[in-house]
Amino acid sequence: MQTLGLCGLLLTGLLASAPVTEAAARPAHTVTYDKYSLELDGKRLYVWSGEFHYWRLPSPDLWRDVLQKMKAAGFNAVSIYFDWGFHSPKQGVYDFTGIRDVGKLLDIARQTGIYVIARPGPYINAETDSGGFPGWLTQQAGLARTSAPDYVAAAKEWFTAIDAVLKRHQVTDGGGPIVLYQVENEYSGTVLDAGYMQALADKARADGITVPLFHNDVWPGGKWAPGKPGAPDLYAFDGYPNLFDCRNPQAWKPAPDFRWTRPVSPDTPMFVAEFQGGSFDPWGGPGYDKCRELTDASFENVFYKNNIASGLTLQNFYMTYGGTSWGWLPDPNVVYTSYDYGAAISEARQLGPKYDEQKRIGYFTQAVETLTKTDPGPDIAAVNPAVTLKTQSNPDTRTQFVLAQHKDTTSTTHERTTFPLTVPDGTYPAVPQQGALDVDGREAKLLVAGYDLGGQRLVYSTSELMTHARIGGRDTAVLYGGAGQDGETVLRYPSEPKVTVLDGSVDHAWDAARGDLRLDYRHGGPARVRVEGGGRAPLELLIADTAASAAFWKQDTAAGPVLERGADLVRTATATGPLLALTGDTSRAGDLEVWAPPSVRWVTWNGRPLPVTRTAAGTLRGRLDGSAPVTLPALTGWRTQYETPERQPDFDDTPWTAADHTTTNNPAKPPAGQPVLNADDYGFHHGDVWYRGHFSSTGTETAVTLNGITGNQGVYSVWLNGTYLGSSGGGTHEFAIPAGTLKPDDVLSVLLENMGHNEDWDVNDAHKQPRGLVSAAFTGGTPDVHWKIQGALGGEDLADPVRGPFNNGGLYGERAGWSLPGFPDRGWQRTSLPAARTEPGVTWYRTEFSLHLPAGQDTAVGLRIDDDPALVYRAQIFVNGWNLGRYLNNVGPQHVFSLPTGILRADGRNTIAIASWGDGPRGLGRVGLVDLGTHRGGVPVADVPSPAYRGR
Ligand code: GAL
Repeated sequence: MQTLGLCGLLLTGLLASAPVTEAAARPAHTVTYDKYSLELDGKRLYVWSGEFHYWRLPSPDLWRDVLQKMKAAGFNAVSIYFDWGFHSPKQGVYDFTGIRDVGKLLDIARQTGIYVIARPGPYINAETDSGGFPGWLTQQAGLARTSAPDYVAAAKEWFTAIDAVLKRHQVTDGGGPIVLYQVENEYSGTVLDAGYMQALADKARADGITVPLFHNDVWPGGKWAPGKPGAPDLYAFDGYPNLFDCRNPQAWKPAPDFRWTRPVSPDTPMFVAEFQGGSFDPWGGPGYDKCRELTDASFENVFYKNNIASGLTLQNFYMTYGGTSWGWLPDPNVVYTSYDYGAAISEARQLGPKYDEQKRIGYFTQAVETLTKTDPGPDIAAVNPAVTLKTQSNPDTRTQFVLAQHKDTTSTTHERTTFPLTVPDGTYPAVPQQGALDVDGREAKLLVAGYDLGGQRLVYSTSELMTHARIGGRDTAVLYGGAGQDGETVLRYPSEPKVTVLDGSVDHAWDAARGDLRLDYRHGGPARVRVEGGGRAPLELLIADTAASAAFWKQDTAAGPVLERGADLVRTATATGPLLALTGDTSRAGDLEVWAPPSVRWVTWNGRPLPVTRTAAGTLRGRLDGSAPVTLPALTGWRTQYETPERQPDFDDTPWTAADHTTTNNPAKPPAGQPVLNADDYGFHHGDVWYRGHFSSTGTETAVTLNGITGNQGVYSVWLNGTYLGSSGGGTHEFAIPAGTLKPDDVLSVLLENMGHNEDWDVNDAHKQPRGLVSAAFTGGTPDVHWKIQGALGGEDLADPVRGPFNNGGLYGERAGWSLPGFPDRGWQRTSLPAARTEPGVTWYRTEFSLHLPAGQDTAVGLRIDDDPALVYRAQIFVNGWNLGRYLNNVGPQHVFSLPTGILRADGRNTIAIASWGDGPRGLGRVGLVDLGTHRGGVPVADVPSPAYRGR
């Protein structure tokens, strides 16, 4: 057993000097580990974790919704990337308020009872702009993610800022939720700078981080395994076996047997820091429904159980809730606005079959403690050679975990088999003794044998065990299997017990010689069996088919564990004396059955008394209401206004920045004789940027060739003296100058969309690739051009710090407040949608609407745009001033944009402003609101402060 001596020392020092705060008053805990598992206060933990990015859900109260949904599915941890760029618009400036309040996030995690795996980078990848680096990092000379002094100084600046928050929320420092801390991310390529890794670890420790540190290797290749120079405490790797091609969602890859990785880091627990929970989807991709299919419930079933059977005791699924890369957060090469990811919890916070499967396996990992310490055992030969049986067993208890899977894990055939089993309780030449074990299509079964289930002895079961708990003196267990499939459960008793089948059809036989009670059945709507006497505590088995098992929920309360069946979600359970307070969500009316200690006599549901009756089986049953219908208003009353005044020669750009730098730290240098035009050099890191080049033509110029770097799917449009010359999809483009366009004093106006910076996955400064114009050259003349540049208002000195660096670029309308609620648009022209375009450039559409969604319900609202995909235009969608979507009509695939409650006023007035850029016939297609899911329940959601127009 390893303990963190250093941590202990640091901790003592910290506690001695810490001011007495709420956190300091809570007891501190220890986090240790050995080769089997993580341990909290010496108790082993199976870490079953889901990835969630608060910065992709800009409504803090909804963080609670997502974390409660995760906790309710049996996740005991959440892994969180902290995005440096999201907090730092400018070197030295850090914001942890409002939607950036990570202290609040960590408090919510603690209140929810879920541990946190903190991943502050500094580099995170994550399909986000610059892989999480702030825009200002493009202005460094040194190679990022190495010991280059400018970069290391900046990375330390970030750690200082974020660690000050994280350290207060460690489990080792006052009982916060953080149990692990990650330095760097997939730092596994050709550049491997041990000095840099050591500097990050040293800095985290110096900042008071006392939990174990780890790094996530891109594959189990041993990069930064403990003992190597620069290595952190724990070794972890990532795994995305089905890759990211959502166009072919049925094309599976084989499930990797990670048992071979054991020697890679022999003294630390087997830890997958990111395992595939879905997939990203690029501009023009097939859409997230296909990604959800690629990584569906059967994928989870086969691959996640396979990981368990490989001996992994820390698993984190990337993503469990993906959310939204709102504003300019996306890395343009890999994702668009939605980051739904096809994850178990959808972008609109809805639950489905993937969530149910996570719950079945997650509950199992949390219920069966012996799973936290296993060694590989011999494979068992199944009678049917298409089925393989891998085993892991606990060296102390000799509990066996048998994974039954297809030999070819991509197979879709239906196999049936029996197999021999030897457990401490004896040898069974053919299991099951009646019927067969099914491996039907893409499924795997993780069976438990030789297990002390509470006060029972489970010899084996061909049903899977979802969970079990001692409730009111009775062991209660939920078993499941495919609908109609055979199931057999054998329990050992000192003497013959009494069996009562309360529901369903279950055969039972007593083998007096062995002391075995054998139950045989087919899985269906739950069967219920009571076993009493026989020298053991009473037992209740709830035997469900896979679908029916999803209706069970379990929580721990002060009075002991409770189990429910029914509702779409049971979020929390709190027992106080005879009262059990439950919270949760329903869409349709239905029964709720509660297994609780006998002391519980009254139940409340979402704060209201729930009339319950005691059933013959001793449980409590009540009836829950469904949700009230919701009607969303049609969006009418649109007003429109064309902008783009910057194209005109007489536009006043005196307040703009002169783009006249002759040198840059950025590794990309300007062509000889030309100034630096990279927008990042002038502090304009995100969104659209304008250039105005002033020059005196000779009249002989016939064309101008521009090179503009936009990032994938970007565009730039060019005007000369107010005349539209055309647009380019990025790169070098020659624009002809029509006769009669030149004047003595010329102005070349260019509007360029910076789609976002590349990630730096390969440690080659790819994020520093310039965004904006690179060069301009004329044909027929060599005029001297003096450039002015304007991006987001204020540049790095944000004009709108509440919404932050990724919300706005430099469109005229954005600079003038047209995106904001309260902007006086009454002078604009009335229009209806779809609307025609009048001129090339940017046209805005605004409307307001009121919502009065029923109280006590949670409706996820989306905004839908539809149009003929042949029409070429792009739009930005602002809701109450927040840039919640970027729509590329001719590229897709996204048409529905999630509007997080809180940003959207569920009870109040809302403003939509859409800026459409194009040169074709269409300004904007049809726009409407859609209900993405309504439930009675939810969490209270406060409106997110959304500053209104104040005049500019
Ligand atoms: C990993 C990376 C994550 C994310 C993921 C794909 O390689 O660590 O940040 O990019 O791939 O979604």
